[in-house]
Amino acid sequence: MIGKPRLFAPECESTQLLLLGADLPEGAVAVTDHQTAGRGRLGRTWVEAPGTAVLCSVLLRPPAERRAVELSLVTAVAVAEAVEAATGLSAQIKWPNDVMLNRRKVAGILAEMRDSVVVVGIGINVNQTREQLPADARTPAGSLRSLTGCEYDRDDVSATLFARFDQRYAQWLDRGLDGVFDDLGSRDFLRGRRVRVGDEAGTALQIDRQGRLEIAFDTGGHRTIDSGEVEFER
Ligand code: BTN
Repeated sequence: MIGKPRLFAPECESTQLLLLGADLPEGAVAVTDHQTAGRGRLGRTWVEAPGTAVLCSVLLRPPAERRAVELSLVTAVAVAEAVEAATGLSAQIKWPNDVMLNRRKVAGILAEMRDSVVVVGIGINVNQTREQLPADARTPAGSLRSLTGCEYDRDDVSATLFARFDQRYAQWLDRGLDGVFDDLGSRDFLRGRRVRVGDEAGTALQIDRQGRLEIAFDTGGHRTIDSGEVEFER
């Protein structure tokens, strides 16, 4: 059951650190109001103004027959659903781990694996004002508040998130990525967009059934990539 037990720290370095070492069951979550050393993907930092965001980590023990790398996408579906439930707007998933609203990144996901344990960290920008969001992010940042003008109860957003995640994780345990594939594909932000991967430009085609991104590169040929950073034309 995702969300039980729920560990809360008013402030911590990173919720990713609160779940390791302790003998906790699958589904345990750590939640905080502020991180002093929040971690992003690819060694980046994740910074927020205290008390404005949903910041949490979830401990999972996926079975060996499942591909744990797919968990970022499974999580992204649950995060998108929680954002949609709060705002009433459609959210998209920018492969491999961002959730977008009105072309702005409102949430990021960081899956860290150690032995057979996966700690999935989720940061949702909820009540930041425009001034409180990073101005120089690679993907333009937004919050639910900056994009809708409304403030949200962060506990409500995280309760919906854990409920949606519980359901999506069960589907993944049962059927792998196929279990969430339709709800992922229908939210694919990059599909049909001009993209750049390193020095190469092309058009994103789709997220495939293995969770990789298919791209038609301008130099010819289709290729799939299974990790990394994809920039899109604004
Ligand atoms: C990214 O987009 O780069 C991923 C950001 C993940 C941020 C969350 S906030 C809660 C959890 N604790 C962390 O230190 N990072 C994740």
